Amino acid sequence: MQNSIFISFEGIDGAGKSSHIQAVANAFRSQGKTVVQTREPGGTALAEKLRDLVLHDAMDPLCEALLVFAARRDHLQQVIEPALARGDIVLCDRFTDATFAYQGGGRGFDLQVLTQLEQWVQALPAGGLRQPLLTLWFELDPSVAAQRLAQARVPDRFESQPQAFFRQVHDAYAARAQADTKRFARIAADATMESVRHAVLTTLHDRGLLPAEAK
Ligand code: TMP
Repeated sequence: MQNSIFISFEGIDGAGKSSHIQAVANAFRSQGKTVVQTREPGGTALAEKLRDLVLHDAMDPLCEALLVFAARRDHLQQVIEPALARGDIVLCDRFTDATFAYQGGGRGFDLQVLTQLEQWVQALPAGGLRQPLLTLWFELDPSVAAQRLAQARVPDRFESQPQAFFRQVHDAYAARAQADTKRFARIAADATMESVRHAVLTTLHDRGLLPAEAK
């Protein structure tokens, strides 16, 4: 089927992206589409176990990169590829851009190694790489995100990083968004929930993925 769509949602911790995934799912469902809502690291039993390790156990950046890509491999094989083959809409809370932003930008890990891992993990049988059709990047200044996170739950290994780390993650997202304006759409996340939701649905409409009435 041709009508499958793969959309990823990205941004630094505290940017608020997760709240808007449900609104996007509802908009597609109201069009009669089957929607798979999933997340990374995670989305399968194995990948959720790996997520728990990555978020809570101390490890070096290579180990971190290998675990997020191992989780991604399982997620692609068990969930994402079958859903796209069925013609479903796949909404994924983070994908490989998060690895380039957090492990690459935040940790300063070798981007060439990440690119190599990406080639192995996301290779398609017919050639090319599996990538989202659209990536919604929720841009928020790290200082605003830090204020939001201060009110949040007990921080994990990433959420507890200093603002300088999130500045690097932010800048890595910005560089990737600039390098691929066809795939990325920037959503200004320093706004009310309602106006961010409106911006998200308008973007989907403008990209021809949702009809105007679905907004
Ligand atoms: P979440 O809190 O948005 O679900 O994301 C989990 C954390 O994992 C978040 O702090 C970003 C981090 N992460 C990576 O470091 N690398 C990755 O490849 C992914 C997908 C997430």
